[in-house]
Amino acid sequence: MPAENLIEKLLSLKGEVASVPSPADEKELESVRIKYLGKKGVLSILSQEMRSVPADQKPEAGKLLQEIRSTLEGLVGSAEIEIKRNKVRREIEGEFFDTTLPSIQPEFGSAHPISAVMDEITDIFSGMGFQVEEGPETESDLYNFEKLNFPPEHPARDMQDTFHLLDVEKILRTHTSPVQVRAMEKYGPPLAVIAPGKVYRCDADVTHSPMFHQIEGFVIDKNITMGDLKGTLKAFATRLYGADVKVRLRPSFFPFVEPGAEMDVSCVICGGAGCRVCKQSGWLEILGAGMIHPNVLKASGIDPDQWGGFAFGLGIERIAMLKYGVDDIRLFFENDMRFLRQFKGGV
Ligand code: PHE
Repeated sequence: MPAENLIEKLLSLKGEVASVPSPADEKELESVRIKYLGKKGVLSILSQEMRSVPADQKPEAGKLLQEIRSTLEGLVGSAEIEIKRNKVRREIEGEFFDTTLPSIQPEFGSAHPISAVMDEITDIFSGMGFQVEEGPETESDLYNFEKLNFPPEHPARDMQDTFHLLDVEKILRTHTSPVQVRAMEKYGPPLAVIAPGKVYRCDADVTHSPMFHQIEGFVIDKNITMGDLKGTLKAFATRLYGADVKVRLRPSFFPFVEPGAEMDVSCVICGGAGCRVCKQSGWLEILGAGMIHPNVLKASGIDPDQWGGFAFGLGIERIAMLKYGVDDIRLFFENDMRFLRQFKGGV
């Protein structure tokens, strides 16, 4: 192959390469690389032709070849950097961070439905001037039964109802009524106390849990009557269920009150017309109550000839089940988030 040819070719290639536009993206870059610098590219073909160039022209041809190669390498190298830089710039622009947007809200927790109902009821009585007291969950037979006028062989002391703690002479309290005695002994009369807390009974089905919550309330003063009891509980029911609720007291028995009663409210589901929840009666029993038995006052260091009082106790789970239409008490204690999340937003 004549040498002029190669030098001419190199000169025209030099011109061509000088006007190759800088590749704008990876695809263009790759095709420039392959076309000029690839194994079968223009430069490698022309390098092979170097072999047949006469010795005196070799330096010029070699120099041209080298110049073209470094021009091309410069072109490809700087295009490579520019393409990468553009890519990063585009990514950053795509990730534009708008500081005016509201932040991602963390998921808020909420009060457990039992806590919410307990707080609501405690608030109602606090508003009426009751002080909040708590007693121990592990109790003695003395406070849980004896001072509350339970006869020695009373069935409530039966192993079937009461959890006995091994080795110590203690039980888990079966109701919040022992707080009556503890508060009377601690403060003396007059008193108005509300005592929320956990209680335990050896019992388990859809409406009974071995651990549940009660609120005890009682008032000790002079000239306290059943009228005070009924008025207080009516005011409470009205705050809890609204102005339309009706209440009634039915005679009942608890050793620590005389007379004893149970209070019903007009059914919160059907309004008193009769439904499945109230078993067509129109009424729902929500608490036990009565005038504090003279023996309980005596056992608590209070003279029953001077002072009298009323007391009541209600189960929180039952109130919460009615309030939220929950038909299985165990749902409250399984801590299934799908259940608990439904109570978000409060009661
Ligand atoms: N302690 C009783 C119970 O657990 C409820 C009650 C409290 C009844 C106060 C009358 C007076 O069932």
